[in-house]
Amino acid sequence: MSSIEAYDDRERIKKYDADMEVMHPNRGKMAEVALDFLAAFKEAPSQVLDLGCGSGFVAERLLDRFANVQINCLDGAQNILDLAAMRLKSHADHLTYTCSDFRTLNTLPLKEKSFDAVMSSYALHHLSADEKVQVLRDCLDLLKPGGFFLNADLIKNPSPAFECCIQDLRVKGILQRAAPDDDRFASKEGTQAYLTKMESAEGDQPLDIEEDLALFRRAGFFPVSVLWLEYREAVICAQKPALQD
Ligand SMILES: C[S@@+](CC[C@H](N)C(=O)[O-])C[C@H]1O[C@@H](n2cnc3c(N)ncnc32)[C@H](O)[C@@H]1O
Repeated sequence: MSSIEAYDDRERIKKYDADMEVMHPNRGKMAEVALDFLAAFKEAPSQVLDLGCGSGFVAERLLDRFANVQINCLDGAQNILDLAAMRLKSHADHLTYTCSDFRTLNTLPLKEKSFDAVMSSYALHHLSADEKVQVLRDCLDLLKPGGFFLNADLIKNPSPAFECCIQDLRVKGILQRAAPDDDRFASKEGTQAYLTKMESAEGDQPLDIEEDLALFRRAGFFPVSVLWLEYREAVICAQKPALQD
């Protein structure tokens, strides 16, 4: 199963948002940090690309924040895009949906150099470093000079011992938040086994924060900076250099 097929699975995505609350309680905070920063720089972004938009969680927050924004919601899985369209149906005139693998971005008829920002959350860790740098280069092409890439995503710790400790904390948190009748999260061992199986099915390959920042720089973004980081999640902001006079 690929990272796209996993999110085309109707049974799996029925529980997607509830599962994100259990597994990633920082998701709302991370979106808020990214949007606060974007708003501080650009009061009213008009064109935003949501890369790997999933069920529309970030797009919904963008629409709450920026009344006139137009968002292109892009995801490889049609079934989760349908969920996003359902969630966002009252804002239909602000949205365009693209069902496509983001590794083929440069072949899509997206408006070249027209985006004020690209936002992505919990999506790019599915790519290898080489694939990711190519996607970032393609996004650089799609951004206006001075535009932003805001990426909220998973990271791994460069120290295996620290990573092990962080994974223990992660499992502990999931056990505390999960519903008592959720068999997937009934014990520490069961939770670890479930997470390992899920991550392997989706081809997760998070980088450490320095590797991640380096990829954004390699793709041509500058400056590149961490806005927020906790354990195994981070929000990165990267800017497309503005044109020089
Ligand atoms: C964990 S979900 C995150 C969704 C949403 N951004 C959020 O914060 O809830 C990852 C999403 O990325 C999409 N995805 C993964 N790999 C992709 C690829 N190569 N091309 C396009 N979409 C992809 C999946 O279909 C899924 O909807």
